[in-house]
Amino acid sequence: MDLLDETKHIFKKRFMREPALIVSAPGRVNLIGEHTDYNEGHVLPVAIDRFTAVAASSRADRLCRLYTANLDEGFEFDLDRLLDDRPHWVSYIMGVLAEMERDGWTISGKDIVVNGTVPVASGLSSSAALEIATATAVERLEGFQIDDARMVRFCQKSEHHFIGVQCGPMDQYASRACRRGHAGLLDCRSMEMTHHRLPEGIDLVSIYSGIPRSLAASAYNERLESCRKVVKILRKTDPHIHALRDATTDLVESHKSNLGERIYRRARHVVTEQERVFELIQAMEREDRRRMGEILMAGHESLSRDYEVSLPLLDNMVEWLCRQSGVIGARLTGAGFGGSLICLAESDACDVESLSEIFLEQFEKKTPERPQIWTLTTVDGARYQS
Ligand code: GLA
Repeated sequence: MDLLDETKHIFKKRFMREPALIVSAPGRVNLIGEHTDYNEGHVLPVAIDRFTAVAASSRADRLCRLYTANLDEGFEFDLDRLLDDRPHWVSYIMGVLAEMERDGWTISGKDIVVNGTVPVASGLSSSAALEIATATAVERLEGFQIDDARMVRFCQKSEHHFIGVQCGPMDQYASRACRRGHAGLLDCRSMEMTHHRLPEGIDLVSIYSGIPRSLAASAYNERLESCRKVVKILRKTDPHIHALRDATTDLVESHKSNLGERIYRRARHVVTEQERVFELIQAMEREDRRRMGEILMAGHESLSRDYEVSLPLLDNMVEWLCRQSGVIGARLTGAGFGGSLICLAESDACDVESLSEIFLEQFEKKTPERPQIWTLTTVDGARYQS
């Protein structure tokens, strides 16, 4: 049974009726543009064939009855009485419903079943997929038409207010709007996405490092604070700087001494990463695989050395992968502090199955959880069926 049928079936068993509709929203892998989204810069994610499905029906009252098949756990709450004492997974759904109402959409209660294949805490955005699946289900059930940017903003706020992570808009936007066969270039200031075709003959391989990414809320939020500090300092000499997106590498270099070493390196990552986004798009257009690999590697090095969100083991994994034949390049994808790597490989020169075997032999014993390797396919953003 596929994920959608299975989720419908679970809904019927749980709530004794058919769901009015079912939505599936994908996880994402970011090709380049890491930690640039909350600096109003650009990112280049793809949506992947790992989904969170939400089956849902409206109710006449304000009660929400939730069930997650992944954890086999239920929970109920009233939209007029949001409870602080709730399981972590409920926060994502409650947060979206609450922020949606705060954004001006009045909604009725819902029966909701969640069921997903995006691995949790692996850095592939299972949380954004759940948020977008929930928001899209409610949008369709209520007959609203919500533009992508607006939906992404309230999902993002729900993560800020209900989870405590001051994330940018990338993951939610990718889950809602990316297209199959394309990477989505999102301008995180104008909140517009353009779609760029991926070259043929490249396998998209994702490697879960085996180190769960506790989106170390505090470390992530600390990076955001450093970026804000830099903006404050740069603004003193140039009032046109509203976010790090507005700064150039030259400007950051010229402020090296008053920024201090660590903050300077954080800023250097963001401004150089912003350049790498456009360089990668150009290399993709030219189908210049060698250059694509160099850009991924430079991105990883910058995350590791300047932004300090990698770990020695992740650095070793990236180095090891890049030495294997047929591998174009590899880097950490997502926030870091564990999680997943993305690796691009030549379809006809790299046997991903044997690569996985050797990789596991090499690294399995060094990680708290078993590393995992998946070849991924790119897909369209959230879809629904009534
Ligand atoms: C997490 C956040 C995103 C983004 C990335 C880093 O995935 O949710 O908004 O900041 O980290 O690029």
